[in-house]
Amino acid sequence: MKGIVLAGGNGTRLYPITKGISKHLIPIYDKPMIYYPLSVLMLSNIREILLITKPEFVGLYNNLLGNGSEWGIEISYMVQEDPKGIADAFVIGEKFIGKDNVCLILGDNIFYGQGFSPILEKASKKNNGAVIFAYYVNNPQEFGVIEFDEDFKAISIEEKPLNPKSNYAIPGLYFFDNSVIAKAKKLNPSDRGELEITDLIKDYLKEDKLYVQLLGRGFAWLDTGTYDGLANATDFVRTIQKRTGLSIACLEEIAYRKKWITTDQLIKTGKEYEKTEYGTYLKNIVKEDVKK
Ligand code: DAU
Repeated sequence: MKGIVLAGGNGTRLYPITKGISKHLIPIYDKPMIYYPLSVLMLSNIREILLITKPEFVGLYNNLLGNGSEWGIEISYMVQEDPKGIADAFVIGEKFIGKDNVCLILGDNIFYGQGFSPILEKASKKNNGAVIFAYYVNNPQEFGVIEFDEDFKAISIEEKPLNPKSNYAIPGLYFFDNSVIAKAKKLNPSDRGELEITDLIKDYLKEDKLYVQLLGRGFAWLDTGTYDGLANATDFVRTIQKRTGLSIACLEEIAYRKKWITTDQLIKTGKEYEKTEYGTYLKNIVKEDVKK
């Protein structure tokens, strides 16, 4: 399975913060926002990743992430000139996806919760159809919304409805089979002029090939689209990390535990970041491992 991180868009809801920089490079506490979606792909055991962003930001992402070898993954880059819609990722990424299935994550979505890795691994193993997630929120009108029948079977999908049929939002994490490319190419722009991800999901629903995984109330799915959303995400990550001493979305730790990088590689990054708590954390991972 291939992975795509969509990190384009104009970020106008965060102006002036995002006037000169891509939204997904600004920090959520101790690391750039883009680390969080990348960690989700890595936890899904996806190692070939395409990052899509605006032309002027490719160099900045390249400075930060390079070709991904620091984490034992392969990152390549493509551009989206204008924010034509989330489903456009599959048209842009057609060659990259090839004949594989694909997972798309939006660059501004942050997930955290117990048992997430097995959920991701299961979703990434599904060969046929689409796997999406549902999460109960108090402001469903701001998201894609999914309606269920009494047996919890999906019956309708709507993008930012004025009168939502349920409180279940669809987070920006989607697993699709290869037919998503053909489906995306057939889409027409919506009234707001975008190729909507929810229209793609509707196609799978029509074919009865849509699988919905509920992310329960113990789970955190955070939105970083507004000033408050950003501040809340930073508070959340800081609180959990300080309380537990465990890092959220530490790419080096994930890569090391999956044996995608060596101890030496981990130590090297730890040294490079030695003036920070992040660096100390990396060095401690090695020490704890030696103790075991
Ligand atoms: O966050 C989940 C929601 O994301 C879903 O529930 C909605 O169904 C989905 O449409 C989307 O809604 P948003 O209004 O939050 O999408 P937004 O335009 O803010 O874009 C989300 C991310 O994708 C953002 O980081 C920018 C990036 N993006 C967006 C578009 C439309 C692109 O890179 N290119 C694009 O063309």
